[in-house]
Amino acid sequence: MTPLDQTRKASQKAPSGDTGSGDTSKAGSRDIGARLLAWYDAHHRDLPWRVTPGAFARGERPDPYRVWLSEVMLQQTTVEAVKAYFRNFVEKWPTVEALAAAPAEDVMKAWAGLGYYSRARNLKACADLVALRGGRFPDTEAGLRELPGIGAYTAAAIAAIAFDRPAAVVDGNVERVVARLYSIETPLSEAKPQIRALVEKLVPQTRPGDFAQAMMDLGATICTPKRPRCMLCPVREDCSAILSGDPERFPVRLPKDDKPLRKGAAFVAERDDGAILLRKRPDKGLLGGMTEVPTTAWTARVDGATTADAAPFPADWRRAGQIGHVFTHFALELDIFHAHVKRDAPDGHFWSLAHEISGEALPTVMKKVIETAIPGATKKQQH
Ligand code: ADE
Repeated sequence: MTPLDQTRKASQKAPSGDTGSGDTSKAGSRDIGARLLAWYDAHHRDLPWRVTPGAFARGERPDPYRVWLSEVMLQQTTVEAVKAYFRNFVEKWPTVEALAAAPAEDVMKAWAGLGYYSRARNLKACADLVALRGGRFPDTEAGLRELPGIGAYTAAAIAAIAFDRPAAVVDGNVERVVARLYSIETPLSEAKPQIRALVEKLVPQTRPGDFAQAMMDLGATICTPKRPRCMLCPVREDCSAILSGDPERFPVRLPKDDKPLRKGAAFVAERDDGAILLRKRPDKGLLGGMTEVPTTAWTARVDGATTADAAPFPADWRRAGQIGHVFTHFALELDIFHAHVKRDAPDGHFWSLAHEISGEALPTVMKKVIETAIPGATKKQQH
């Protein structure tokens, strides 16, 4: 057996205090929970939606509206990107009733740039429903799951954080922490049920909400995908991956296929006064209900239907550049054409005045398109 094999073999052993083969004894999971909570008390991140650790023991209750709003925003977006959006939302709409009373159009506009726009539509539908039922969020995972836009993960996160329920909150960060703690060799795509079962055993009966957030913070700040800071980790003595000498190897992943590439052309028509021609996308489907400049279809092939020949009307179209954008299921390359135009908006389109463009519900891909053709156009202040 080579030294590496020996290390690998050692890494298969269960963390100290545990019963073996990826299982946790009561003592082991209690120790890990207690160590994590002590670490969280000292090192938690200050985030705009958070209350300080130990709130429930002091008789304080987090506002379920703020917890729900943050969790929906955080579903597919980073903490850093969410902070400013969260602050803006709670300033504009401090309660679920206020959000329910807001026009859907305003909510979509405030969401623009966060991506995954079906979240914004579900957010509004959920606010409407909760407000209709008296403004109280259900306080169990099962009750929360019945609401629009709340899946298993979000229900668990809200139940734990807002109501201190002992729910197993398993996101990508938590999967990584657990895959390392128990040096799980099964590829992550197949290991999810095993990881969930392990988290269920780790969740402490006291302060489960803080525990959930401690796991998230550990994954985000210490047990990072690259170059984890194991020397600072509160559970390093329990961690099998450290013993392997290569904690970054976990979670094990299968090689991933590249995303398919789609192509198209986008047309930025500008009027003399700086207005830009826009249209609203259909409510259903990708970027549903958001605003865009006219574009061709986005297809896997390049032909006359995806080039300047496909402009919505004749004009002196000039190529302004190209942008790339990666969606969940494909990558997109758009050739961008720009023209100065004097005409009425065609059916289904509208002119957005220069100072109104920054307030339109433009997804990030469309901001990139417009900025390529007319730098600064999406940043002009409204007045
Ligand atoms: N990611 C998802 N939910 C989170 C939360 N409440 N705090 C930090 N990161 C998160």
